[in-house]
Amino acid sequence: MQEKFKSLVFEEGVLKLLDQRLLPNREELFICRNCRDVIDAVRDMVVRGAPAIGASAAYGYYLAARECAEDHTGEAFFSGLAETSRDLERARPTAVNLRWALQRMERCTEAHRQLPIQKLLEALLAEAHAVTDEDIETNRKLSRIGAEVIPENAAVLTHCNTGALATAGWGTALGVIKEAHYSGKQVFVYADETRPRLQGARLTAWELIQEGIPSKLIADSTAAALIRDRVIDCVILGADRVAANGDVCNKIGTFMLAVVCSRYNVPFYSACPVSTIDFDTPTGEDIPIEQRDAEELLQIEGTYIAPPSMEVYNPAFDVTPHELVTGIITEAGILRPPFAQAIAELKNDRETVIVHKDEKGNLYLKGIPVTEDELRRLEEQGTRVIMLPRVFKGL
Ligand code: MRU
Repeated sequence: MQEKFKSLVFEEGVLKLLDQRLLPNREELFICRNCRDVIDAVRDMVVRGAPAIGASAAYGYYLAARECAEDHTGEAFFSGLAETSRDLERARPTAVNLRWALQRMERCTEAHRQLPIQKLLEALLAEAHAVTDEDIETNRKLSRIGAEVIPENAAVLTHCNTGALATAGWGTALGVIKEAHYSGKQVFVYADETRPRLQGARLTAWELIQEGIPSKLIADSTAAALIRDRVIDCVILGADRVAANGDVCNKIGTFMLAVVCSRYNVPFYSACPVSTIDFDTPTGEDIPIEQRDAEELLQIEGTYIAPPSMEVYNPAFDVTPHELVTGIITEAGILRPPFAQAIAELKNDRETVIVHKDEKGNLYLKGIPVTEDELRRLEEQGTRVIMLPRVFKGL
């Protein structure tokens, strides 16, 4: 099942983003010709959703390297690139996929440091493509795993947007719902409008209609009564960062839903790729929560709905304590309590590498040709090798 749109695509040497600020009324592309454009797009939420931010940042890093190569050589190139990478990381502080993708690009730079600059750029572009392609594969996998928690004839409540728009493709929590729908289960979705940016009303509703999934839009304040009245069978939503103890940081309003689910014994799931788990952040209290502009609350579509001089508190995310979470759906399986143990086991799991195979059967590891013998040796040393088909895109 393929979406009719792409949240992001790199072609003709530029990153093209479907401008999510304009949906559902206008479908327009926002073109990023350089890293500055990517930083602005992430900050202004042209592109949003943790995995989509991560993939965009990977291309942003490549664009930064391309720009740096025009002006600098040697150490100046590497230090300029490192500085721009830090600027990219600061664009939005909560979604850990941004840092994860940049660290991956930085490791790629380190691994190819000795190569001529053109070869390094090629490797970086291949790595950004790999981040993007793998995200789609990962989402498909976690969706297949997660669909089992949705009962037949279920009503599922979701929050914010976690679909193909929020990722490189397919989606996480909405991906799980799509998988259940396409596998023949009768699923009905209640989509929270998700104030203040209305990702539920503008984006999830747009995706649900395109997919033909039976659904209704609700005001955020309707959810508690629906959960109490047993209309909702389970809540499935995404995550921007999961702490090492299983605390889930997600779009503001998530915590409120978890509290009501716990009170009425309704299963509450978060679905996210392993790249959203921050093994280095012990608890939700340690997660930086992005504070956004007052205008997001004071205005709708450019019209003030509150006195412009009113002071505003506008955190973009909240943290749901792990005690309220039934399960965390990932491509590595559904993590269940005790989460600290499940996450520690995941961390200690043997190293995984993704190998891409092109149409001619050639194998690539981090964009570099690799032989079957070399892969066999890696497996013998305990590394898990995952093989994915690869379509190389031009520079
Ligand atoms: O502020 P946003 O729209 O970037 O917030 C997005 C969310 O909170 C999503 O639930 C999360 O990133 C998961 S997206 C698959």
